[in-house]
Amino acid sequence: MAHGDADAGQLTPRSTFYDRGRFGRLFPTLPPFSADVPLIRDALSELGAPGGPMDAQDDLSDPVTLITDPAKSAHNPNNPTLTAGFTFLGQFLDHDMTFDPTSSLARAQDPESIRNFRIPALDLDSVYGGGPAVSPYLYDQNVDEGRTTFLTEEIPGSAAVSIDGNARRDLPRNSQSVALIADPRNDENMMVAGLQQAMLRFHNQVYLDVAADLGTAYTVDETFAEAQRVVRWHYQWMVLHEFLPRTVGQTTAQDVLDNGLKFFDWRHNPYIPVEFSVGAYRFGHSQARPSYRGNFGTSTTDLTQQFFALLFKPTATNQADPDDLRGGRRAPRRFIDWQTFFDFGDGRVRPNKKIDTTLSSVLFDLLGQAREARRRWRPGTSSATSPWRYRPARASPARCRSPQSHQATCPTCSR
Ligand code: HEM
Repeated sequence: MAHGDADAGQLTPRSTFYDRGRFGRLFPTLPPFSADVPLIRDALSELGAPGGPMDAQDDLSDPVTLITDPAKSAHNPNNPTLTAGFTFLGQFLDHDMTFDPTSSLARAQDPESIRNFRIPALDLDSVYGGGPAVSPYLYDQNVDEGRTTFLTEEIPGSAAVSIDGNARRDLPRNSQSVALIADPRNDENMMVAGLQQAMLRFHNQVYLDVAADLGTAYTVDETFAEAQRVVRWHYQWMVLHEFLPRTVGQTTAQDVLDNGLKFFDWRHNPYIPVEFSVGAYRFGHSQARPSYRGNFGTSTTDLTQQFFALLFKPTATNQADPDDLRGGRRAPRRFIDWQTFFDFGDGRVRPNKKIDTTLSSVLFDLLGQAREARRRWRPGTSSATSPWRYRPARASPARCRSPQSHQATCPTCSR
């Protein structure tokens, strides 16, 4: 689905302070890198075009050799400190902090209503939703009347194609395969969907442990609240002690812990700066590799039994079980074996891609959605790290009401 359509800066109010949930600016007085003129837009469009300088120009003919043949990773150098799974952990964290679903890609947006639908804190609202009372469809109604335990579902047929012969689990889905989760973006690809599912199951296990510890002196609601606290604290510990230092470096992470924040200032409640959501935190897009080994299938050594695939393959024909790693589907082979994504000490883990100025070629055509997105998110003048920058829709009625014949010459329409 379309998401992340926070405007890149031009339209965002220039005040530093916002009520909770809104996007704001970290550097409200900083002048733009350049005036917004057609020449600059065209130059930047070229920079971000498929085949342009930002395109890693991967040979997408074979998802296996993209991983096993180092020559094919010349444009996707390894990151020595991060393993492959950190990309999707970073994406999962993003979805916990920032979400602007209000402006569909085809609609002009009111700048005053750019609202962040995530609480800008690492509180897992992308997992818990509004809690059992407000988001009952997330919770298993057969356990404690839906007040304590997340719903997950078995993938029929998965045991026959998994290395240990055990059935694997999936996010709960409605009859049209849409995941029943608090943030739809966490079903965008199989890896981030797997992390969402891992978090659901982690909560369920913690709930059982906490319930056993606390005993019957506490209500199920109190026990749920305690389990939620334990889950959140573990998650925050992981972000602080693993994700952050490995991503920004131990020295920088320690400096923030020792000396506090230098630029992020908020008055009533924290907000998400557009410099973060539209700019800096999109660094993760450059970490995505063109292909991954989703799982080992029935063999740890025979590559033909394993599920390798491109992250996205727009030409995949089987819509029920496409030959790529997109989310939104349930089929026997659509589950993740995490050994190549995170380090379990068994020598199977694969490195992440270095954070750099290129994007894997698969990201230049995100299954149709990005064709539209790309038209409107161009390489940015206001942020050095954002691959895309918001560009209002062409000939939007809100911007120009002239007849179509006039649009080619109108400076507003022809931009
Ligand atoms: C791995 C595959 C990923 C895919 C396919 C993906 C795709 C997208 C798409 C389509 C958008 C919305 C369109 C746009 O705003 O340009 C978006 C937004 C965004 N992405 Fe990613 N992304 C991925 C990973 C990541 C990672 C690893 C990070 C950070 C570590 C990240 C950070 C962001 C942020 C901050 C936004 C804006 C969110 C908002 O405010 O609503 N993404 N991504």
